[in-house]
Amino acid sequence: MTNKEYWRNYKLENIIPHGGNLKICMGSVNDIGHIDKELTVSKWTISDIELIGIGGFSPLTGFMGEEDYYNVIKNLHLSDGTLWSIPITLQVSQKEADKIDIGEKVALKGKDGITYGLLVVKEKYIPDKKVEAQSVYGTTEEKHPGVKRLFESGNVYLAGPITMVTRPNHQPFENFYMTPKETRAMFAELGWKTIVGFQTRNPVHRAHEYIQKLALENVDGLLLHPLVGETKEDDIPADIRMESYQVLLEHYYPKNRVKLALYPAAMRYAGPREAILHAIVRKNYGCTHFIVGRDHAGVGDYYGTYEAQELISQFEKELGMHIFKFEHSFYCKKCNQMASMKTCPHTNEERFILSGTRVRELLRNGKCPPPEFTRPEVAEILIKGMSNEE
Ligand code: ADX
Repeated sequence: MTNKEYWRNYKLENIIPHGGNLKICMGSVNDIGHIDKELTVSKWTISDIELIGIGGFSPLTGFMGEEDYYNVIKNLHLSDGTLWSIPITLQVSQKEADKIDIGEKVALKGKDGITYGLLVVKEKYIPDKKVEAQSVYGTTEEKHPGVKRLFESGNVYLAGPITMVTRPNHQPFENFYMTPKETRAMFAELGWKTIVGFQTRNPVHRAHEYIQKLALENVDGLLLHPLVGETKEDDIPADIRMESYQVLLEHYYPKNRVKLALYPAAMRYAGPREAILHAIVRKNYGCTHFIVGRDHAGVGDYYGTYEAQELISQFEKELGMHIFKFEHSFYCKKCNQMASMKTCPHTNEERFILSGTRVRELLRNGKCPPPEFTRPEVAEILIKGMSNEE
């Protein structure tokens, strides 16, 4: 069997959701009924409620209890043996926890006063945050944005099933909102049997475009699935990115082979472990393939360039997806084309390699990164967006 035939065997009908079927936990505000307590939760928690609600985090149906929590941080599996790499938990302060009893129905409200979810409390427990940080993020340093958030959040975890009763609004990009059920239906309608999912929290630069198109050579369609939940402060905001994706697709991608949809999650910056979570979720959305490039979901120097690829490789069979792994890609002046460490024999002096920090600096100063790095149409949107931000 050739590689191409092998990949083509990953049929959509074979891509069953993670753990068996989509666990959709949605209701409506009319179903709220009697409430015992109310809790104001963060934007981050609202995005977790949303992902559980729409089935993106299947087979989870709520916030993790203690047994799943420890199994995930220590063994990368839920207590029933299903692969899972990052705890999905609800952190509250001791004071808040003291007011809530086991068995109570709690309305989870945003700071805007809207009830997004209902939680039936099954457990309250004290997590081991040091072990969690070390296992999930590979460090306990508070300089790491994921660790910082973990240590700043409440010291008690509430667990239990949830129902999403209000879906967060994603205006002005609601028309790009699709639930896993909807993307699956869309792929079936388009006749796509093999779909590669692409996670991103950045504008799509030439290197991203290069690896997406290499992947697309081998499958029926590409789901460009940018993360639009909370990111760290210096990342480019989702609304600016969303505009840049649209312009890029319009000019450089075949319309009938690419779909753009929002991934409403918060960014954890957990590198290798987050690559696994990202793949699981895209499987739930119906992707048969997933891209993991260099330093996937990384931040600073916390992870090795290919650590995410190494970790996910150990679980590819359990995931039941094909992972496209790409080496560090760039434009090489000598090759006169896009290339990667694997295919280009030249030195870094001959390559356009810019750090994210350097690119943001250029954009903030109204300067275009070179066209070999970013398409001019994209750069224009980013410069305009970044200058409006200030
Ligand atoms: S991430 O945090 O969402 O991973 P980013 O949006 O930059 O960040 O990356 C999206 C995907 O593209 C990830 O799989 C990442 O590994 C890959 N990637 C980003 N830049 C490159 C590059 N220059 N070469 C190869 N892969 C890359």
